[in-house]
Amino acid sequence: MTGAPRLAGKVALVTGGASGIGRATALRFAAHGAQVVIGDLAVAENASERDAEQDALTSLVLDVTNEASWARVVEEVERRFGKLDVVVNGAGIVVVGDVETMELEAFRRVLAVNVEGVFLGCRYAVRAMKESGGSIVNISSVSGIIGTPNLVAYDASKGAVRLLTKSVALYCAKRRYGIRCNSVHPTFVDTPMFKRVVAGTRDPEWTKNALAAAVPIGRVAQPEEIADLIVYLASDESKFVTGSELVIDGGLTAQ
Ligand SMILES: NC(=O)c1ccc[n+]([C@@H]2O[C@H](COP(=O)([O-])OP(=O)(O)OC[C@H]3O[C@@H](n4cnc5c(N)ncnc54)[C@H](O)[C@@H]3O)[C@@H](O)[C@H]2O)c1
Repeated sequence: MTGAPRLAGKVALVTGGASGIGRATALRFAAHGAQVVIGDLAVAENASERDAEQDALTSLVLDVTNEASWARVVEEVERRFGKLDVVVNGAGIVVVGDVETMELEAFRRVLAVNVEGVFLGCRYAVRAMKESGGSIVNISSVSGIIGTPNLVAYDASKGAVRLLTKSVALYCAKRRYGIRCNSVHPTFVDTPMFKRVVAGTRDPEWTKNALAAAVPIGRVAQPEEIADLIVYLASDESKFVTGSELVIDGGLTAQ
């Protein structure tokens, strides 16, 4: 090991980077030497400028469900930084609902962000990176592997991301683009999304403890623990890893 920053010289776009796992990933990427662009709906209007906290972070308004928004943001990244090496598709939403009662409109909204958003992210990443290579990381979930009775849309969306990832990986491999594409599958992570879901239950304190107890290692994850795995996938250390689903769940799906 030389001790050189693991992402030195790389330009990364992290969707959902204003909060939770995306935010932790953006900060970790910057700490490892990358130039990072956060693309998020929640970016304040005056934040299309450099983040004052850290020179390596820039924020741009991106709606992952909107193709014109993707085109604008990727063009802006290339204009400012000359290239794109890494895209993390982290933007996502969860709506609780079951097969019998969930509104179709809500089901479609989850799929629009979690599936169409990742599809567009992969499309714009491939178009931008096919000459020079790169890494795409799609944040799925253990919900892309195992089901939950009241998460019908979320489960469907995360399962779709799992196989969409493999399709993109194989396409890029076949074309010799030098682009890798992998999915990450966390279980409960202590983020604003997780807190909102827990707060919506009848007894939030009980729910939080029950969810932690369901994880074999006895706790939920911190966003930085997921970010560390994403740093590996973004870096050249994982150059032979593509089409893979990396589970990071404290043993939940090992049972
Ligand atoms: N927190 C968990 O327990 C957990 C577990 C497994 C997987 N995940 C997945 O990790 C990813 C990040 O989740 P999180 O917990 O950090 O959530 P979060 O709610 O804290 O952050 C999600 C971010 O996505 C952004 N976003 C939502 N819709 C968008 C859109 N249309 N365009 C652009 N940005 C949009 C939000 O503004 C927000 O900043 C999601 O894909 C989620 O499904 C989360």
